[in-house]
Amino acid sequence: MKKRPLIAGNWKMYKTASEAVTLVQTLKAAAHAVSNVTIVICPPFTALSEVSRVLKDSPIHLGAQNMYCAPEGAFTGEISPMMLKDSGCRYVILGHSERRQYFKEDDILIHEKVKTALKYSIIPIVCVGETLAEREAKKHFDVVKAQFADSIGRLEKEDIPKVVIAYEPVWAIGTGKTATPDQAEQMHSYIRRLLNERYSQEVGSRIPLLYGGSVKPDNTKSLMEKPNIDGALVGGASLKAESFAQIIQEAQQTYETGNKS
Ligand code: PGA
Repeated sequence: MKKRPLIAGNWKMYKTASEAVTLVQTLKAAAHAVSNVTIVICPPFTALSEVSRVLKDSPIHLGAQNMYCAPEGAFTGEISPMMLKDSGCRYVILGHSERRQYFKEDDILIHEKVKTALKYSIIPIVCVGETLAEREAKKHFDVVKAQFADSIGRLEKEDIPKVVIAYEPVWAIGTGKTATPDQAEQMHSYIRRLLNERYSQEVGSRIPLLYGGSVKPDNTKSLMEKPNIDGALVGGASLKAESFAQIIQEAQQTYETGNKS
């Protein structure tokens, strides 16, 4: 039996607060027809509070795109877990490849952030994934294994069930080049194995593994049909209510059909 899918929208550095409100109002209306998908949207920090107000009484959850690993302090320009909670966030994306690439975040820092998020009861969506050069050099499994070991695998057994993992091959992000469902499934089942070996089969089977990288309405079904793909982290296609709503519907249909057969 497949897990209830989780579809998260990563809005990146797009949408002012008023644009965010307009988008989320449309999404909120579309979400009424959805009962079998966990929906998360991650707008920029400046829109969180307003979006949270619009989402009141809606099944859509709010997430942030980053967070610092201290509860408060002299960290100019950073955002704390307490601030995220105060803004209505239940999730936070951590270790996105754009954070790793442009802001030099490493697995040690990401691990600290993951631990802090868990301490404040915020669900971390931890991203891992290889670059094109690493895949071409056939190092993709080693890269993901090391990212997993350093950012996630150092968590205690009692903390790991609260984590969501997103596999996002860097070469598929914003490029229109999706990993094929088979390529994605191969890595997802590898990550599942890492979880099983480090923790237990029971734990491994419970952790949602999302795929991210050019997810669109027309490739959602083929990805979501794969046994170890439990959802998607969607960038570009989450910026339009229509395409994001379609992705959610595809995920719901695939889940319902899969669990019937
Ligand atoms: P994309 O982005 O869907 O635009 O490829 C995914 C992500 O970066 O999370």
